[in-house]
Amino acid sequence: LATETEHDVVVIGAGPGGYVAAIKAAQLGLKTACIDKRGPPGGTCLNVGCIPSKSLLNNSHLYHQILHDTKKRGIEVGDVKINIEQFLKAKDDAVSSLTRGVEILFKQNKVDYFKGAGKILGPNEIEVKGNPGEPDALLKAKNIIIATGSEATPFPGLTIDEKKIVTSTGAIALEKVPKKMVVIGGGIIGLELGSVWSRLGAEVTVVEFQNAIGAGMDAEISKLTQRSLAKQGLKFKLSTKVLGAEVEGETVKVTVDAAKGGKEETLDADVVLVAIGRRPYTEDLGLENIDLDIDERGRLVIDQEYRTKYPHIRVIGDVTFGAMLAHKAEEEGIAAVEYIKNGHGHVNYGVIPSVMYTFPEVAWVGMTEEQVKATGKPYNVGKFPFAANSRAKTNLDTEGWVKMIADKETDRILGIHILGPNAGEMIAEGALAIEYGASSEDIARTCHAHPTLAEAFKEAAMATYSKAIHF
Ligand code: FAD
Ligand code: NAI
Repeated sequence: LATETEHDVVVIGAGPGGYVAAIKAAQLGLKTACIDKRGPPGGTCLNVGCIPSKSLLNNSHLYHQILHDTKKRGIEVGDVKINIEQFLKAKDDAVSSLTRGVEILFKQNKVDYFKGAGKILGPNEIEVKGNPGEPDALLKAKNIIIATGSEATPFPGLTIDEKKIVTSTGAIALEKVPKKMVVIGGGIIGLELGSVWSRLGAEVTVVEFQNAIGAGMDAEISKLTQRSLAKQGLKFKLSTKVLGAEVEGETVKVTVDAAKGGKEETLDADVVLVAIGRRPYTEDLGLENIDLDIDERGRLVIDQEYRTKYPHIRVIGDVTFGAMLAHKAEEEGIAAVEYIKNGHGHVNYGVIPSVMYTFPEVAWVGMTEEQVKATGKPYNVGKFPFAANSRAKTNLDTEGWVKMIADKETDRILGIHILGPNAGEMIAEGALAIEYGASSEDIARTCHAHPTLAEAFKEAAMATYSKAIHF
């Protein structure tokens, strides 16, 4: 083998969990290596997830807005066309500049980056099978951090070809706009990527097993979101099961059935997107060599300090418990390294924001109203519509609400849910407020600049314990 080195920390996987852990470990003075078989670092998120999907969402929104939302603004445009090649290139450019950026950070921080497949041979030993042109290596590690992420959950009986029956990876690279697209799963991926292709002209039907979209978002916000997406042209079949799909020539025939028993129906599609969730990825990792525990959903089992049954082998990100979100993986990466270096680390799992980057965006942090209700604690709800916010009005983007839920006795904020323009940026204030244990009155008495969308946030806070001024 080309190299045999001893490291304080070896991180397997260079996604947002792994690469952040590796940089943090190096910053804390630990000799660190990171391994990823994908080649470019950044994991699912940078290569085929968060970043490319946001490029497509941003540019498809712009296109859609230019087509349908310029006249009333006094802008007259000529011939508007989509150039799919450039549309995809803009996405690829965003991805490559960001993954290159992570490689530069690795160099700057002296992280040894190995492009190849890592396999655990023993509790302190990892073999790297280098990608073509890259060296093999045998690494000795005092500590190992497993950050191997997740993959799309397959749909039983459907063969993914990433052309006609696709996961998100195929759906961010379609070379032409499908006429008809069926999305299986009305969760975050289904709604984001369904929006992209719908805006470019596809007829999109979302088939969801549950009776609501948004995979667990606040029920009231979920309904408003569905209404908004339906107005944009997405069709929804809720409480509906997919029974199977057959490719017949250029068409995929998707058979569905009302979940509560109803008429079977066949939907025709050029492209079917399977988006029914993701599952932990541990293939060829060599788990059998150290016999780590895995739960019934394939997640690596860890304690509160991210330790497996070997205290020096820790696990973070999508491959273990909790929300499958990039920022959650990053927080865990830092905490796991701090445990190694200092013996203590911290992630507040009650304050992990979620954002769905549709238009309008949906963002939330803390508990949904349903979760608060289930605790039996009395609570107050304050709401404020963007239709009454001056900035939203001047922007002619007035759809949506801010909804705040606070403990009735203490006024402490329990949950914040926003459907609206820039909700994803606005939720940061909510996360900070909940992290610091703010009351709704604390927010309402904090001066917010005028005219900003953030004033809707402040007024929802006012409405929680008293009354809003402008609604
Ligand atoms: P990953 O990012 O999955 O990285 C794991 C890496 O480990 C991979 O690169 C893989 O190649 C590597 N690996 C695995 N096994 C080995 C091995 N044996 N040897 C070497 N390397 C190995 N989250 C958000 O927060 N915001 C979003 O907007 C968002 N959008 C998304 C859009 C899509 C389409 C998808 C699919 C996901 C999205 N996510 C989003 C989720 C986000 O991508 C994940 O939560 C995040 O990437 C998890 O990070 P991770 O480090 O745990 O794993
Ligand atoms: P998801 O868990 O968000 O949604 C899956 C949906 O599919 C659920 O609504 C579920 O009820 C439905 N479903 C499951 N089985 C079904 C079936 N047989 N038929 C019909 N519907 C079925 O999963 P998704 O959308 O695949 O995303 C995976 C992960 O990626 C999520 O954990 C999400 O957090 C993350 N992600 C995050 C994004 C963001 O933060 N903006 C963007 C995209 C993905």
